Amino acid sequence: MRQIVCSSEALVPGQKMAVQVGKRSVVLVRMGNGDYSALMDTCPHQGAKLSDGELTGTTLPSGVGEYVYGKEAAVLRCPWHRWEFDVTSGQALFEDRRACVKHFEVTIEDGNVVIHY
Ligand code: FES
Repeated sequence: MRQIVCSSEALVPGQKMAVQVGKRSVVLVRMGNGDYSALMDTCPHQGAKLSDGELTGTTLPSGVGEYVYGKEAAVLRCPWHRWEFDVTSGQALFEDRRACVKHFEVTIEDGNVVIHY
């Protein structure tokens, strides 16, 4: 199933918003590169709304003494205990690979953002 949720210009890079997709609460994100992504709006830890969290980036693997910032506005930090999720996959950034949020495919169609669920 699929649902149009907004115009493709509704968010600027670095913004997010909560949307209802069918019966699901979803957080729609526009990443720093301008692409859209969407995750279930519920943290797998204790259920906080991820749409209330901070959209940020992270440091990337790099040489000793080197700090390379990346994934701009592609990391969503839970507002309660600060677990961080890659919005392109829903996978947590820390080692526990079981911690992930459901990720939804997003397409742009005729100037609209469409979430597939
Ligand atoms: S509820 Fe999200 S990290 Fe605890």
